[in-house]
Amino acid sequence: MIQIAIDGPSGAGKSTMAKRLAKELGFLYVDTGALYRAIGLYMLRAGIDMTDSAQVLPRLEEVHLELRYLEGAQHVFLNGEDVSNEIRREAVSMAASSVSAHQGVRDFLTETQREIARENNVLMDGRDIGTVILPDAQIKIFLTASAEERARRRTDELAQRGQKVDYEEVLADIRQRDYNDSHRAAAPLRQAEDAILVDTTEDDFETAFCKLRDLIRGRIG
Ligand code: DC
Repeated sequence: MIQIAIDGPSGAGKSTMAKRLAKELGFLYVDTGALYRAIGLYMLRAGIDMTDSAQVLPRLEEVHLELRYLEGAQHVFLNGEDVSNEIRREAVSMAASSVSAHQGVRDFLTETQREIARENNVLMDGRDIGTVILPDAQIKIFLTASAEERARRRTDELAQRGQKVDYEEVLADIRQRDYNDSHRAAAPLRQAEDAILVDTTEDDFETAFCKLRDLIRGRIG
């Protein structure tokens, strides 16, 4: 099986990029953030303090997650309910960032992620895929862009969906999540030593896509 790991901060365009690359390569696209988001959603609904592992970890027993592919698109099921849309809410982004800091939550999801990669050629996106989940991945990419550029893209994307948001708020949010994701003790966001750094601050989507596609093709033929 071939494993491609794409890690990087939020808003770097990983999921849009990975989805399209996977389609072109005929690989399964795995959005691992959706798993953390589904746990965040569950804890949000439960109304507990998500920064407190003593409150979060026992509740994992009540959580059953499943990834299913419907017409080629990944859907995440939380205790049988398709929560794929709901997990995209901003409140859930923050919840996911909080719960993902607990080692117990990360351990809970490790096997699910590895199992998919054992059975399929995957292009998996996340924060610790190249460093922890698939350390032997044949290709590792660390995709990033400046916080300002990521905030600008996110503001435009939300505006296109009819949601009016303030750029400064989005930027503050991105900075907060960058900080949380890279300063936590458990599997912090960092570039694997053997990962290729791709910075798309100056690139439009098409240019960045071609760069990555050529890079991957160059490696796996
Ligand atoms: O990629 P995303 O924005 O959907 O991820 C949501 C949160 O989950 C993010 O704040 C960090 C966390 N996450 C993680 O810790 N490890 C992953 N492999 C994927 C996401």
